[in-house]
Amino acid sequence: MRIKYTICFIFIVALVIIEKESNIISKVSDKLSLKQTPQTPVQAGGLSWTVMQNGSGSPVLDYTDPQSYRYTNRRLENFSESGEGGLLPASASDGRKHILLLATTRTGSSFVGEFFNQQGENMFYLFEPLWHVERMLTLESGRTNATASAAAYRNVLRQLFLCDFSMLESFIKPEPQDHVTHSLFRRESSQSLCEDPVCTPFVKKVFERFRCRTRRCGPLNLTLASQSCLQKQHRAIKSVRVRQLETLRPLAEDPRLDIKFIQLVRDPRAVLASRMVAFSTKYKNWKRWAEDGEVPEDDDEVRKLKGNCDNIRMSAETGLKWPTWLRGRYMLVRYEDIARFPMSKAAEMYQFAEIPFTPKVKEWILKNTHASSEVSGVYSTQKNSSQQVEKWRVSMPFKLAQVVQKVCGPAMTLFGYTFAQSEEMLRDLSISLIQETSLRTNEIS
Ligand SMILES: *[C@@H]1O[C@H](CO)[C@@H](O)[C@H](O)[C@H]1NC(C)=O
Ligand SMILES: *[C@@H]1O[C@H](CO)[C@@H](O)[C@H](O)[C@H]1NC(C)=O
Ligand SMILES: *[C@@H]1O[C@H](CO)[C@@H](O)[C@H](O)[C@H]1NC(C)=O
Ligand SMILES: *[C@@H]1O[C@H](CO)[C@@H](O)[C@H](O)[C@H]1NC(C)=O
Ligand SMILES: *[C@@H]1O[C@H](CO)[C@@H](O)[C@H](O)[C@H]1NC(C)=O
Repeated sequence: MRIKYTICFIFIVALVIIEKESNIISKVSDKLSLKQTPQTPVQAGGLSWTVMQNGSGSPVLDYTDPQSYRYTNRRLENFSESGEGGLLPASASDGRKHILLLATTRTGSSFVGEFFNQQGENMFYLFEPLWHVERMLTLESGRTNATASAAAYRNVLRQLFLCDFSMLESFIKPEPQDHVTHSLFRRESSQSLCEDPVCTPFVKKVFERFRCRTRRCGPLNLTLASQSCLQKQHRAIKSVRVRQLETLRPLAEDPRLDIKFIQLVRDPRAVLASRMVAFSTKYKNWKRWAEDGEVPEDDDEVRKLKGNCDNIRMSAETGLKWPTWLRGRYMLVRYEDIARFPMSKAAEMYQFAEIPFTPKVKEWILKNTHASSEVSGVYSTQKNSSQQVEKWRVSMPFKLAQVVQKVCGPAMTLFGYTFAQSEEMLRDLSISLIQETSLRTNEIS
């Protein structure tokens, strides 16, 4: 009898440990996913590794600069030679919309991504597929080559919009076997990857790093995912990794895509405050400065923040200048407006994307913006939005706010965020720091 109990006990302990482990693993990968890459300006010209349209309408990969891809260790080099790129379906856009939600970390992009993820049967939504690409292209120094990454991001995005996962597969580690993987980053965040027929019967003993939450599924068969994608009317992808909108110009000009870019921005002071909580290890310097009340002028972290803000601002400037290639394809959205007016902003985004705003999305928004305050994990998309939007002002040291205002000033001015002139002004929530701007789709500031 004793032995039986002991065995039971050990078994339960083991189960608990396994559960804990997998939580830790998914937390770590969350952190990794939100890891930021250092900023380097993107040079014009870029790589010659582009997907080109063959006269017949079947695209081919022109991969003439193998050196640029020496960081990726497999199969990429074989794309052009073996003509794998030719697998791309040659679909015309025929009313299909392709939405790319561009953001940076801690701007509410998971929440806004849900607006599309929840659309229903007509939407194929992918959450941060470029996570794999960034990871593979991160050099030993921890940096990425901005030019090389930008080209890889663009090409992977294009393929994914066309429901071709082959290039993405070459970036997934461990390498998918027969197009089946158990490591697709945050699979559970894409409804399309966790519903029939992409959700195959659950297989015991296979460790799923990112498993569907709503139900147990077998490892992800990307062939099935691709088939499901092809059957959906519209496609949406969210990414916090694209640095410059300009680098995506070839996508805007691809007639098969009819792409719509939605750029999501947020008050950089709030972003910093949020990152200091969410990525506390990475932001430990900032935390120290918050305690000391001193921020070194000449510091890598400060330069990184500036680089970030400059990239976001330059992308928005590109969009708002309304170049021909972006006409009707660019929309700028502020997190604060979504938090305060989620329903009307979502409706506006759908109108911009020219996709019907479904009751399912409305229902989701209603449910998740009136959610009780008890559900508010750092990665949770359920929050009382209005309440959250200016919370950072209560606790952020004025010194830090000043540093952000200094290095991100031009971006703040462009997006309509008021500078706090004093600590009193920062703390006084009756003074709004959010200007009501008319910045919208294709308007010049
Ligand atoms: C390009 O299209 C032509 C037909 O127009 C075809 O014969 C040729 O094989 C295609 N080339 C590639 C690389 O797909
Ligand atoms: C980045 O990659 C591009 C394209 O491969 C290359 O021309 C450039 O020299 C690289 N830059 C650095 C700093 O390594
Ligand atoms: C590319 O293809 C060649 C010939 O099929 C093969 O020998 C080589 O191992 C392949 N390279 C990679 C990285 O898969
Ligand atoms: C993945 O799905 C495709 C399409 O149904 C199927 O042909 C293939 O056998 C599946 N792969 C595996 C490894 O089950
Ligand atoms: C959020 O919370 C505030 C204060 O608790 C409340 O007044 C407001 O109605 C809530 N908003 C929503 C959308 O639930």
